[in-house]
This record gives sequence, C-alpha cells and structure tokens, in this order.
Amino acid sequence: MSGNGGDENRADCRRVLIIDDDRDFADSLSHLLTLEGYNVQRAYSVAAARDAMNTFEAKVALVDIRLGEESGLAFVSELRQEHPDLLCIMMTAYDSAETAIQALKEGAYDYVRKPFYSEDMTATLERCFERIRLTGEREVAEAQLRQAQKMEALGELTAGIAHDFNNLLAVILGNLELVADDVGDNANLRELIDDALSATLSGKELTHRLLAFGRRQTLHPQRIDVGELVAEMLRLLERTLGEGVVIKHLSRGGLWQIEVDRNQLEMSLLNLAINAHQAMPEGGTLQIETANEVLEYSDTLSQEGLRPGEYVAISITDTGVGMTEEVAAEAVRPFFTTKEVGEGSGLGLSMVYGFVSQSGGHFVIKSEVGKGTTVRLYLPKAEQVPAAVLTEDAEQEARGDGAGERILVVEDRHAVRRTSRWMLAGLGYEVVEAVDGDEALKVLSADERVDLLFTDIVLPGSLNGLRLAREARTRNPDLKVLYTSGYAQDALRNDETDLDQIELILKPFTKNELARQVRKTLKAEP
Ligand SMILES: Nc1ncnc2c1ncn2[C@@H]1O[C@H](COP(=O)(O)OP(=O)(O)OP(=O)(O)O)[C@@H](O)[C@H]1O
Ligand SMILES: [Mg+2]
Repeated sequence: MSGNGGDENRADCRRVLIIDDDRDFADSLSHLLTLEGYNVQRAYSVAAARDAMNTFEAKVALVDIRLGEESGLAFVSELRQEHPDLLCIMMTAYDSAETAIQALKEGAYDYVRKPFYSEDMTATLERCFERIRLTGEREVAEAQLRQAQKMEALGELTAGIAHDFNNLLAVILGNLELVADDVGDNANLRELIDDALSATLSGKELTHRLLAFGRRQTLHPQRIDVGELVAEMLRLLERTLGEGVVIKHLSRGGLWQIEVDRNQLEMSLLNLAINAHQAMPEGGTLQIETANEVLEYSDTLSQEGLRPGEYVAISITDTGVGMTEEVAAEAVRPFFTTKEVGEGSGLGLSMVYGFVSQSGGHFVIKSEVGKGTTVRLYLPKAEQVPAAVLTEDAEQEARGDGAGERILVVEDRHAVRRTSRWMLAGLGYEVVEAVDGDEALKVLSADERVDLLFTDIVLPGSLNGLRLAREARTRNPDLKVLYTSGYAQDALRNDETDLDQIELILKPFTKNELARQVRKTLKAEP
C-alpha cells in the first residue's frame, strides 16, 4: 500500500530551491532545471527564501553569493543550522579560491561559478541527489540494524523468563497430577485441582508463545502443501468468523512445498486471521493469498529483514481499521497490544514473527489507517528431498506402566527432581537421583542396574546432560537416555548432537507425556 513510482514522484523527490535576487537569471535557471525533471521553486530575497523553506521542503538550495543587501554566505550558514539535511550549492560570480573556501566553511556542499554550462549545473545537482540517496539508504540500514538488535535482546529476555517459568510450571503441573491421583472420590477437591491444572496449562501455552518469540521453541518441520493447509484453514474460518466477513482465497497454483512445523504454521495463520477479524468489527473482506515468490537482491532493499531466495508467500489481508506507523512498528513486540485489558495479550504477532524467523523465513506488515492491513509470511521453499524420509513417526500406543525398570533422574533443581521422582515412581519405575553429572557418574559406576538415564540438558558443573550421556555410554553402551529441557534448541546449538536423533521431553510435561516418552525410550534400540 505504499510506494508508487513514476516521473511525477521522481520530480517530487528532487526539490530544488533557487535563491537569487537576479530575477532573470533565477527564472531561466528554473526553466532549465524544470525541463531536466527537477521540482523547482524560486526566491528572490532572503526573506522569500525563509518562507519558501517552510512550505517547500527543498532538498538542495542554489544560493547566490550576493543577495541584494544581504550576504549569501551568511544565509548558507543560517540555512545549514535551520535545516541540517539541506544541501547548499553556492553560486559565485568570480573565480576566487578564497570565496569558494569560505562557502565550504559556511557549510555549502559545493559551489559553481557563473556563468556555467547547464551540464555542469545538472552534474552538480545529480551528485547532490546521489549523496542524499546514499545517506537515506544508510539511515534505513542503521535503523534496521538497531531494530534487529532490539528484537534479539527482547528475544533473549523473553526466552529466559519462559525458561524459568517452565521449571516452575513443571513442578506445579507434576504435583497437581500427583495430588489428583490421590483425591479419590472427593468431587470438590477434584474440581479445585482441575481448575488449577487448567490454569497451569494456560501458563504453559503462554510460555510457549514467549519461547516462540525468542525463536527457541522446538520445531518439528515437515513437508507441507500450503494450498491444502490454507484450504483447510479457510473451511475453519468460514465456520467461525460469522456472516459479516467475506472470505476470499487467491492462489496461483503450482505452489512449491515448504518444510516447517505444521502446528505452528496453523497457529500463526489463525492468529493473523483473528487479528484481521478483530480489526473489522463492522465486517469486511479477509483475503488469503498464496504464491511462489523469488526475491532478488533488489526486492529485498525496500523491506527490513528480507533476504534473497525462493519462498512461498502467504498473505492475509483485511479491510479493517489498519495501523498507524507507530503501531505497525511496535506490533510484534511481546505484550504490545491496543486491545482492552483481557482482550489481547499482545503475543499473537510475537509468536508469528518468532516462528517465521526461526523457520528461515520473513515477516512483513503493510498497513494503512482506515484501509486495512496485509501481513505476509515468506517461508523458504523446501529442498528437494524424497518424501519418504519425512513421514512422521506414528508411535502411539496404549498405556502401560513400568515393570520396575530403574531410572536415574539427574536434575539440579530439587523441586523438579522430586516431581519427576514421584511421577516415575507412580508409574511403577524404581528411581535413583543425582543433582549433577559428577554425582550421576558415581551412581552409575556403583549401581550396575540402571536402565534409563533421565537427565536435564542444562546441568551445573563441567558435564551437561549430553556429555554426561556420552560418558555414561562409554561405560554402559546399552544405557537408554531420555533428555529434558526448558528450551532444547538453545542447549543443543553448541553441541554436535542432532535434535532428531535423541529422545527429548520438554518441560513442563504431564505424567502421561512422561509415561509415553519413557516407554518409547526404553523400547528403542540403543
Ligand atoms: N490486522 C490488524 N489490523 C489492525 N491492527 C492490527 C492487526 N493485527 C495486529 N494489529 C495491532 O497489533 C497489535 C498486536 O497484535 P498481536 O496479535 O500481537 O496482539 P493482540 O491481538 O493485541 O493480542 P493477542 O493476539 O495476544 O490476543 C494489536 O493489538 C493491534 O493493535
Ligand atoms: Mg492477536
């Protein structure tokens, strides 16, 4: 909704103010420059020039050195102070090095000597506008860098908070489940526990979105046919958005496949659709458009964060209230919301942004107040890999508790460790504990009969969970290992271990999730 090209626009950017008390000269120069495609205004006196500067927004001023009673040199200095971005070119009538130097000292960008050839004047002006263009580009690049750094810092912060909260939630969730097992038929107590459990699960959802923003959620990328996913999504939206909203789907067909986390993509599109819906309280049109897009380097300059490459672009456009520039600039910040308290948490776009970036894609918002908003996701085209490799592991089996297998739980946080112990014991396993890697190794060498090592990835001391497992396996190659973490990707990033090849359960987990994962790990080939 921005950026229209054309000559008119070009002339509009190339605004030149001629300041000269010699009217004939100013008029003919103005005529000449207008023919060359500049947008020109004239001022025959200093006073007129001051007025013109207030209304015209000149980029370049051509200032004669003599302005009647007043000095052009002094006026250049004044102009530079009042309008620091303006480039001034001094026009002198005599070829004196001294005057030229003085002009440059007063802040003139360049000078030309009268009479001049028109080519010389236009060459000088072109240099000015080239410089203005380069300065503008640099400012944009700097602003983009600052924004990227800000997002990075915010991501670190939110992911850190989410990580700590996940540990707290792990304890709350685990203990509530243990208590629930014991309340028997007491319906009142059960109801209280159920409420507490569902609040904890909402908390889990919230920390998940924070981790998503910090680009530290664990993703399970899989091949996706975007056309089919969007079609499914549209059916859902048609049922839920109500009559006031007309839904349109534009697809160019022949879409490339992408390889991203399906759940997260669905969540993202849903968040965007909800935003669009909320932006159209009186109804309107919601359009979803899908297309293959090849971004060349030149396409990426105008938009922050874009990188050249092949993408599938998904755009969601609404005809709603739109955003001001200020709101659009802040919109992805976690907890930024313009909605009433209780109506929005301000995490929708944060989650979408984090997911898309973590998936190697980009995210662009275009919005105009009163007209509507388009949010476009660019998701990278999948590499050509045979589809068979990508089928999901469909491991789902009926519950069955442990048969006394021995599990070593390694976790430095006391409360988390105790919760795990209770859960595992409740499932019929025997549990031994260790607070860090060194203690775990001692237990392992003293106790022959450990079947499973259940360890946090992040541990205090010299051994993290991954190193501990490696060390333990050199002693007992058959040892099964299950990892847990508050945020896995980060812990694994510095290690050569591949996330897909290890068994991992993310905190906070329910007893059922733990049961399933422990069983799966115990059954797996070492
Ligand atoms: N389609 C849209 N049209 C107009 N404004 C929008 C649109 N999408 C987002 N915004 C603005 O950006 C803000 C942040 O959006 P975001 O989805 O992150 O949070 P939220 O919708 O306020 O809350 P949540 O999604 O967590 O319930 C919104 O409060 C709104 O001001
Ligand atoms: Mg939202």
